[in-house]
Amino acid sequence: MGSRGWNRCLALELLLLSLSLLAISIQGRLVHMTVVSGSNVTLNISESLPENYKQLTWFYTFDQKIVEWDSGKSKYFESKFKGRVRLDPQSGALYISKVQKEDNSIYVMRVLKKDGYEQEWKIKLQVLDPVPKPVIKIEKREDVDDNCYLKLSCVIPGESVNYTWYGELPKEIQNSVLETTLKPHKHSRCYTCQVSNSVSSKNGTFCFSPPCTAARSFGVEWIASWLVVTVPIILGLLLI
Ligand SMILES: *[C@@H]1O[C@H](CO)[C@@H](O)[C@H](O)[C@H]1NC(C)=O
Ligand SMILES: *[C@@H]1O[C@H](CO)[C@@H](O)[C@H](O)[C@H]1NC(C)=O
Ligand SMILES: *[C@@H]1O[C@H](CO)[C@@H](O)[C@H](O)[C@H]1NC(C)=O
Ligand SMILES: *[C@@H]1O[C@H](CO)[C@@H](O)[C@H](O)[C@H]1NC(C)=O
Repeated sequence: MGSRGWNRCLALELLLLSLSLLAISIQGRLVHMTVVSGSNVTLNISESLPENYKQLTWFYTFDQKIVEWDSGKSKYFESKFKGRVRLDPQSGALYISKVQKEDNSIYVMRVLKKDGYEQEWKIKLQVLDPVPKPVIKIEKREDVDDNCYLKLSCVIPGESVNYTWYGELPKEIQNSVLETTLKPHKHSRCYTCQVSNSVSSKNGTFCFSPPCTAARSFGVEWIASWLVVTVPIILGLLLI
C-alpha cells in the first residue's frame, strides 16, 4: 500500500475513533457541577424520575452506597456522608451539606424501574476552595532619567488559578508576572492582580508614586494607617 492508502486508513480510523468517543459521551450523560467548599449542594437530575420506580440508590464512586430508597423507606449507609445527606424520593434529589474537597467524585444515581430495567445518571462534583488573597512581590530598578522598571509577581502558594493584571497597561495581562516600565510621570500608578478559579476571585493592588516608590497596597495596610490616624483624634475627643 502506498502512502496515500495509509493516509486513507488513518483517516478512517480517526473517524471511527471520534464516532465511538461521541457515543460514549452521549451514553455517559455526565453532568458537571463545580461548587465552593463549605456550601450545601443539591445533586438533582434535570428530568423527572421513571414513574413508580421500585428502588433508588445513590453511589459515591460507583461502589460505595450513600442512601437507598426501597419500599417507601430510605436507608442511609455507614459512610462519610452519614448525617450530612438527605434524599428526596419524589425528585431523587440528594442534598449534601458542607461539601469538602474530599467529596470530589462522580456520584451515580441508579433507579430500578417497575419493568425490571435499571437506569443510571451520573453527576461529577468538583469542590474548590476559594482562592486566597494574593501576595505581590516587587522588584524595581530606577535609572538616572527617572525611568522605573517594575517586575511585580503575584503569588499564590500551590493552587491552580488564573491571573489577570489590570492597571495602566496597553492591555490586560494573563500571567502571574507583570513587567513594565514607568516613564517619568506625575501621578501615582496602581496595578491590580486578580486571582481566580471558577468559584471565587480576589484582588491585590499595589500603587507607585513618582518616580519609583511603592506607595501602598490595598487591604491590611490601609486598615493599619486608618487606625494610626484615628487614635489621636479619639484621644483628642476624650481630652475635651
Ligand atoms: C447548609 O445547611 C445547613 C442545614 O442543613 C444550614 O444550617 C446552613 O446554614 C447551610 N449553609 C449554607 C451556606 O447555605
Ligand atoms: C429536581 O429536578 C426536578 C426536575 O427538573 C424538579 O422538578 C425538582 O424540583 C428538583 N428538585 C430539587 C430539590 O431541586
Ligand atoms: C483559566 O481560564 C481558562 C480560560 O478562560 C479556563 O478554561 C480555565 O478553566 C481557568 N482555570 C481556572 C483554574 O479557573
Ligand atoms: C478586582 O479588580 C478588577 C479590576 O480593577 C475589578 O473589575 C473587580 O471588580 C475587582 N474584584 C474585586 C473582588 O474586588
